[in-house]
Amino acid sequence: MANKDQTDTVRMEKIVSLCKRRGFIFQSAELYGGLNGCWDYGPLGTELKRNLKDYWWRKNVQERDDILGLDGSILTHQAVLTASGHIGGFSDPMCDCLLTKARLRADQIDPQSGTAYHFTGASHEQSGWSVDRPYSVLLNQPNQDENKARKTAKAFYAQFLNDNQISPKKLTLVGETTSEETDVTNYNPDNGSLLTEPRDFELMFKTQMGASADENDPNATAYLRPETAQSIFVQYKNVVDSNRVKLPFGVAQIGKAFRNEINPRNFTFRSREFEQMEIEYFCKPEDGLKLTDTWLANRLAFYEEIGLDKKKLHVLDIPDGERAHYSQKTYDIEYDFPFGQQELEGVAYRGDYDLGKHQKHSGKPLEYFDEETKEKFIPHVVEPSAGCDRTVLALICEAFDEEDLTKEGGKNDVRTVMRFRPCVAPIKVAVLPLLKNKPELVAKAKEVQHLLQPFMNVFYDEAAAIGRRYRRQDEVGTPFCVAIDFETLGEEDASMKDTVTIRHRDSMEQERVAISDLLSWLLERIR
Ligand code: GAP
Repeated sequence: MANKDQTDTVRMEKIVSLCKRRGFIFQSAELYGGLNGCWDYGPLGTELKRNLKDYWWRKNVQERDDILGLDGSILTHQAVLTASGHIGGFSDPMCDCLLTKARLRADQIDPQSGTAYHFTGASHEQSGWSVDRPYSVLLNQPNQDENKARKTAKAFYAQFLNDNQISPKKLTLVGETTSEETDVTNYNPDNGSLLTEPRDFELMFKTQMGASADENDPNATAYLRPETAQSIFVQYKNVVDSNRVKLPFGVAQIGKAFRNEINPRNFTFRSREFEQMEIEYFCKPEDGLKLTDTWLANRLAFYEEIGLDKKKLHVLDIPDGERAHYSQKTYDIEYDFPFGQQELEGVAYRGDYDLGKHQKHSGKPLEYFDEETKEKFIPHVVEPSAGCDRTVLALICEAFDEEDLTKEGGKNDVRTVMRFRPCVAPIKVAVLPLLKNKPELVAKAKEVQHLLQPFMNVFYDEAAAIGRRYRRQDEVGTPFCVAIDFETLGEEDASMKDTVTIRHRDSMEQERVAISDLLSWLLERIR
């Protein structure tokens, strides 16, 4: 995608619809109108997400000898977040549309230019009603009808009427003046209405702990963690003391994080409850910058391994002044989602900021003693921090395909196929007896199902014609279908007894494999 802002709304709508129809992702509390910014993973989404997390864990913890795991608590001591700078510092500038009350991130409003219409108030002659309050509307298109600004202003002032019998149209605007504005960000781009001044909006969810918790008791206050990273820093010393680790080493964690996002959007992309996959990689100060580059390369390779197209992955080297306060170097890894190029992961060199802060605030030493040099110092940290839900969404967007199989002169035939890499595919294999009313076929298929089930997620399906069943599996991305047919029973050709047809999802090609080889055949291909 050449243009960062290029979007494909139709494709995204199809993806969201498939996710619901086939049970990947549902709106949380949909039955009650939905809980904004929260999502529930359905049966297939759960498998997909679990496969991603397992793969990440395998690559970053199991297959390495320098990274250990941690599973920290979600409820977080306020002292931790005071030290980290989150309390008092983790907020977004927010403003409200004076007309619709829509809440916008002030730093994400595109600058606009045009003519601003200013008013000092409005009145209603017959009833004697009036209101004094300055209000403005921006018309940002050339030759726009100025009455549009007046109509918007009347709708704004009508909010102050006590008498809903009076139509906004009947109001008289007071004190109209105009001004030419260039690159301003204090008007709502959707309707031109003036916005409130930006205010800091606390992004953390606060809660009270304990049966006698009093809202005003600061000691009873806890927070839902806004990132998994902090428990790693706070447990750093315990990990070092309980495991014989030497620099460089990492601590990895997968878990929920919570942010009261002002504007959750783009399906699961920006949620209020989400999962992170983070590593804090502790190192000597002189190795920090080099390791940041090494981790960037490592993480890009990971995304390719799980099936994201290299061409859709982009690296942004965040310039000075735009990085988080703690970071001396940050790369963002972005992906071409159908709604534009957006961040998947940040690889940040956090220096000794976090351990330094926790040492200072807790008063406990967090230095590392280097046996070789006999030096004591606070380790530096490189942090690859990935969004689990965002990666699941990227996998879904990447996998979605509509293949036109219409034959010349034939009926329109479009195959929806989710081209997941087998390592992340929710169902690894579907077992399909050719006919459901032939007990020998069903018994054999069940036998194959039970043979494979301890090792992978298997789906058994005997309903409908085999072609339809293949298509149902294509739509959820099952890489292999195993058909149990008459040849499996060896009724006509004894040499074919106990062999099955394997149908490949992507090529739709078929091959014959002996049941005795089936498990190893599949295991080789699904890891
Ligand atoms: N510990 C560093 C940290 O949390 P971040 O850039 O704020 O850095 C890391 O978050 C990753 O977490 C992001 O790259 C993104 O993938 C994911 N993430 C952050 N906020 C999110 C949200 N509201 N919804 C879904 N994922 C989110």
